[in-house]
Amino acid sequence: MMATTPQTTRIIGSDGFELHPADETAMRKEMAHYEQPQAACIEALKIVQRRYGWVPDGAIGAIARVLGIGPAAVEGVATFYSLIFRQPVGRHVVLVCDSSSCFLTGFDELKQALVSQLGIDYGQTTEDARFTLLPVCCLGACDGAPALMIDDDTYGPVSPDDLPGLLEGYP
Ligand code: FES
Repeated sequence: MMATTPQTTRIIGSDGFELHPADETAMRKEMAHYEQPQAACIEALKIVQRRYGWVPDGAIGAIARVLGIGPAAVEGVATFYSLIFRQPVGRHVVLVCDSSSCFLTGFDELKQALVSQLGIDYGQTTEDARFTLLPVCCLGACDGAPALMIDDDTYGPVSPDDLPGLLEGYP
């Protein structure tokens, strides 16, 4: 009797994007926690983003194949969540909250100071690829408004004078 070799399926999305095997495993583990595979969609997107810093187009199809749902459903989730990046970003992402508490407590000065210190506006990345600046809805840190987030760290209240010291921590 011949021994059978276990078959491995490589998940490849459009654009030749190939899902890292460890990421596929992590997604399948995540799926096991839910009755509906689409419930694991946001986590699957975060898994890809942790590896690449953003979610390339090809990853949408690859995630859809792992979850067994349509690419449009994955794209819908990716578009809805502002913390999922669909374009390349810098090494660090600065998210400035522009929701009501922050808006009323100095958001505008804070944003202007960031624009001036980084030399970029929303949706742009510094020439050295160090920072990308983006707006974000309420970070849930309203008692520390005005607030911002750099990568996974939330800060508030932040004044324009705090910015040089804060940014220095993200080389
Ligand atoms: S409104 Fe800015 S953190 Fe809530």
